Amino acid sequence: FLLLTGVAAFAMGISPPSSSSHENMHHGKVDPTKLQTTAPFDKPGLKQIGDNEYEAVLIAYAFGYNPDTIDIPHGAKVHFIVTSSDVVHGFEIPGTNVNFMAEPGEVTELTHTFDKAGQFLVLCNEYCGTGHEMMKMTINVK
Ligand code: CUA
Repeated sequence: FLLLTGVAAFAMGISPPSSSSHENMHHGKVDPTKLQTTAPFDKPGLKQIGDNEYEAVLIAYAFGYNPDTIDIPHGAKVHFIVTSSDVVHGFEIPGTNVNFMAEPGEVTELTHTFDKAGQFLVLCNEYCGTGHEMMKMTINVK
């Protein structure tokens, strides 16, 4: 039972602090058919909220992310706020611990600090249809 509980907690993204750099993963609800008139998804994109601290509001869809590119400075702390407008998609940044699902009706929030400069790809790792393999976005850390 203890083992199963641990696996379930891990699957839910509620892993112990020592095994994850995720800060404060939050979940909320949103109507996927009303994103265009529901803040913050009515204005997807990057917003500076502090000293090298940003909010990135992103909408996953078949087959891409809106917006498809964000540019941030080296060392930026980014609060991702992500949902899907259609089906379940993935949101994984290889080389980091950022890996969660973008689900219709759900808002997932996760904070990540980009300590290394470079170009990072966000990939969809949930099969979502014929364009799944092409689904990605770019994060440029300068
Ligand atoms: Cu979106 Cu696979």
